[in-house]
Amino acid sequence: MRNTRDTQLLFVLSKPGRRAGRLPACDVPTADIAELLPTAAVADAPPALPEVTEPQIIRHFLNLSTQNMSVDTHFYPLGSCTMKYNPKRNERAAAMPGFADLHPLSPDAAVQGMLHVLYEMQQYLSEISGLPACSLQPAAGAHGEYAALLVAAAYFRDRGELEQRRRVLVPDNAHGTNPASAVMAGFDTVAVKTLPNGGVDMDDFRGKLDDRTAVLMITNPNTVGIFEPNMRVIADEVHAAGGLVYLDGANMNAILGITRPGDFGADMQHYNPHKTFSGPHGGGGPGAGPICVTDALAPYLPAPIVERVGSGSSVVGSQESEHNAAATNYPLPPTLYRLSYDRPKSIGRVRSFFGNVGVLLRAYCYIRTHGPDGLKRVSENAVLNANYLLSRVKHILPVPQGDRCMHEFVASGSKIKKEKGVAAMDIAKRLLDYGYHAPTVYFPLTVPEAIMVEPTETESKETLDAFAAALFRITEESPELLHEAPHSTPISRPDEVQAARSPCLCARWD
Ligand SMILES: Cc1ncc(COP(=O)(O)O)c(C=O)c1O
Repeated sequence: MRNTRDTQLLFVLSKPGRRAGRLPACDVPTADIAELLPTAAVADAPPALPEVTEPQIIRHFLNLSTQNMSVDTHFYPLGSCTMKYNPKRNERAAAMPGFADLHPLSPDAAVQGMLHVLYEMQQYLSEISGLPACSLQPAAGAHGEYAALLVAAAYFRDRGELEQRRRVLVPDNAHGTNPASAVMAGFDTVAVKTLPNGGVDMDDFRGKLDDRTAVLMITNPNTVGIFEPNMRVIADEVHAAGGLVYLDGANMNAILGITRPGDFGADMQHYNPHKTFSGPHGGGGPGAGPICVTDALAPYLPAPIVERVGSGSSVVGSQESEHNAAATNYPLPPTLYRLSYDRPKSIGRVRSFFGNVGVLLRAYCYIRTHGPDGLKRVSENAVLNANYLLSRVKHILPVPQGDRCMHEFVASGSKIKKEKGVAAMDIAKRLLDYGYHAPTVYFPLTVPEAIMVEPTETESKETLDAFAAALFRITEESPELLHEAPHSTPISRPDEVQAARSPCLCARWD
């Protein structure tokens, strides 16, 4: 039963004199605050804070916290920007005081454990991508795209080609962040058509590829859940035209340990740890978008990079260790890892300190927990679950790209729209009443009335069957009921554009 009384504003619940706790009487000498602080620093009156009891506070926040859906409370088959279930052991590891309490300005010698982990993380991400150099700095997938395109621009500038190579080719079913990042990095975008099967239209691609091309940004597997059939040919032709291939690695969760972007022709890529490994995303918390690149692009990566000094022997007595000892004033362990700033061609920093280290730690734990065979099984199960669900859903909502998919598929609600006037949005909203997070809708634009579904590898057959059954029941319901859905949430249908562009974050209670 929803408790709406305790989720009213705390200011509404407030009654003078109520307290969640009371301090014992003061047992030390007191002094007048005006004698201790300058007059300007002393407030005229106490702040107008709500006065409530402890149960009121607990009920208020606990009930508020359950008004939304989350990956810990509901099946969350979002699609594209999916945040998959985060194992709790990774949360616990990232919260260990040895990691969580470190000061980001500590000298290298005082944070050798953290640098060791970050160094290994760079190595793992390089190994998984087949691209030998890595920067952990970017704070989100889109930020990784932007940083990598700055790297590409620096590379072409160095070769005296930047004036000529202004274009970034982007297939028309790409995530919106791809063209946006290209423009922010100073390039012009050129859309490349895709075919009904989701693959790149090779004629259109070849017609647009020339010596003005700097980069082709491609998502593979792509946003309709298809592994690009001509990937190798496309990469070879971009390279032959003097361009670079950027791989939007958001969908790496479909190919871990099975194939590597570096092996199928990518020169650079970003990871979305929230979807591929483990970590929060967007409104769920800070993110990360580490990037990996070829040796040729490595000099331009953001600085600093974590480097291993020597081959494991102590470097006590080195310039660094003397600097560290002087900075901390106590004897320090041997310095094996350091932050290297000596990168004259680097594009510079793209994030303060060392990126969102807490997010990277969760992803590190995920990789270490699974190991190479386990990561491969993660992808196999993600693909298996998506194909199972596709086979259950395609009779209810047609899937234009066919009977097989990688990690996700895109169903189309256009038939039911024509027959009953029920839109993809109506179906997505009604799913909330059945206790499922809504899938991504109306993306990609190449599929009419798109409903994108990504179950991820952690879900059981029972959950997938129940979700398919709910979809079936929804398509049998009356259009009137669906147009008004959801019926069980605190807010039903806000104006989504207004809510995003002009959020009203103030409340009045007088
Ligand atoms: C295909 C694709 N590219 C790029 C992004 C952007 O990533 P982020 O939201 O972390 O900026 C996403 C979102 O997860 C995505 O699904």
